[in-house]
Amino acid sequence: MYHNPVLLKQSVDDLVTNPDGIYVDCTFGGGGHSREILERLSDKGKLFSFDQDLDALKNTIDDPRFTLVNQNFRFMENSLLMYGISQVDGVLADLGVSSHQFDEAERGFSTRSNAPLDMRMNVMQSLDAKKVINEYEEEDLADLFYHYGELREARKLAREIVHHRKTKSIETTEDLKKLFSYIPPHKVNKFYAQLFQAIRIEVNQELEVLKEMLVQAYNILKPEGRLVVISYHSLEDRLVKRFLKNGMFEGEPERDIYGNYKKAFELLKSKAIIPDDKEIEENSRARSAKMRTGIKV
Ligand SMILES: C[S@@+](CC[C@H](N)C(=O)[O-])C[C@H]1O[C@@H](n2cnc3c(N)ncnc32)[C@H](O)[C@@H]1O
Repeated sequence: MYHNPVLLKQSVDDLVTNPDGIYVDCTFGGGGHSREILERLSDKGKLFSFDQDLDALKNTIDDPRFTLVNQNFRFMENSLLMYGISQVDGVLADLGVSSHQFDEAERGFSTRSNAPLDMRMNVMQSLDAKKVINEYEEEDLADLFYHYGELREARKLAREIVHHRKTKSIETTEDLKKLFSYIPPHKVNKFYAQLFQAIRIEVNQELEVLKEMLVQAYNILKPEGRLVVISYHSLEDRLVKRFLKNGMFEGEPERDIYGNYKKAFELLKSKAIIPDDKEIEENSRARSAKMRTGIKV
């Protein structure tokens, strides 16, 4: 199976309020969420879905109401304008990589298989994991391990990589893992997960594109339009939570003339929604999911 969609009913229940409306699915993947959205739309409704991965295109849906755009969602606003769309009723994003991307060993996302250091969701882009590991300055590597992998020993890891690559370039996921064979067995899985997450976020500029997408979603949503985001790690969730609360990512939120914080969205529920035990049992990827829904004010 290409991908088992997470929080499928809950997310689409939150998203679709107007069956005749125009909706955007930023992360088409296997098309699970897109199919569910189409189920809820009338003949007049429309759905535009984005995915930057060529592999996702084979899952396209043959439906006159549906358009699949092979683009990074950071270009959502302009891409929609090309179809004459400037306002929409709802935007959904189910972030991160699909199970298919993890399962295709040669793409280098999985910590379990040996593969070339790649990790690009869009295979047309030039930055890949090999470049990050072999060409980044030591300080930049340390920063990304610290900020994106939340690895406390970031400086040491970066030093070890830079020392090793002076004699031999680091070509594969196994080459990289071998450098850290001293990590105790009970810590190694978590360590590799954090290390790979950091590299993946950098290769795909995941936090930057998320910020761009959130701002564009706000711009194109009609008043009362819904933004639904499912995220899989705290770095993403923090950005989503902050943006839905204050319409910004850092600094002091703006106040209106009465001194109240300006609001971009009303939160549909005050707490993030997480999958129930049954869903987590059936789909381990659901384990770390958090969903937040904002209604544009
Ligand atoms: C978690 S999967 C989505 C699964 C989908 N909801 C489903 O039901 O099958 C994420 C998908 O979004 C794509 N993706 C991630 N970031 C993207 C971006 N910045 N622009 C476009 N597509 C992106 C990935 O290539 C992947 O196919």
